[in-house]
Amino acid sequence: MDVSKKLVVGNWKMNGSLAGNAAFLEEVTKSAGFGCAMAICVPFPYLAQASHLLSSASEIALGAQNVSEFDEGAYTGEVSARMLSDLGCSYVIVGHSERRTLFREDDGTVGRKARAALGVGLLPIVCVGETLAQRNDGVTLEVVTRQLDAVAAEVDGLAVDRVVLAYEPVWAIGSGLTATTEQVGEVHASIRVWAQRVFGGGVATKILYGGSVKPGNAAELFAVPNVDGGLIGGASLVARDFLAICRAAADY
Ligand code: 13P
Repeated sequence: MDVSKKLVVGNWKMNGSLAGNAAFLEEVTKSAGFGCAMAICVPFPYLAQASHLLSSASEIALGAQNVSEFDEGAYTGEVSARMLSDLGCSYVIVGHSERRTLFREDDGTVGRKARAALGVGLLPIVCVGETLAQRNDGVTLEVVTRQLDAVAAEVDGLAVDRVVLAYEPVWAIGSGLTATTEQVGEVHASIRVWAQRVFGGGVATKILYGGSVKPGNAAELFAVPNVDGGLIGGASLVARDFLAICRAAADY
């Protein structure tokens, strides 16, 4: 991971088709060569296809959206970190709020998934963020710190510059509501201080912002101190929009 460049990661969530993916990846790889690092996290069934199509564009990394906390064995339906690595993944998202809420993943599970990823050399993108109720209650920083502490407890001793952190306020995901630059700045500064305290060399830790990032707001979000890039949902499904966001990240 190049620590000097911003990192833009697309999270396709449960979207895609063989034909649509091929068209998207062809357009993106044609235009690649940006001054930012890029990754695309695709659904499990499309990893092999994306791995093949991205092989000509080494600056675009491949990622998955989930991973098993277990190494191998009788875990029907699970996908291990080693399998993701085998398929050419460099990244895996863990602890996305959709998994925490819809699939009841708790802080401990998220931490163990991060550990499983690190164990095979994958970079976990650890998502943290508060709900609207938590923000209104004034406990945003406590919630985020608790989520981060749970991961640190599991990955103790593993190099922190191999963990990417993503602040995604739950209320800003897919809602069209973006956190203000002040809100983003406050939480990212607090995460930076946390990374420095817990991991020592926290400057090398990439901290992404996610939640309704679009071509129209990417530049101002990327200008916020301690924002090292973005985790992009809806806008990563449209090649033109994703590329525009990458271009905004390359300007720094
Ligand atoms: P949107 O960009 O669609 O708000 O999604 C953000 C997200 O959840 C990325 O992981």
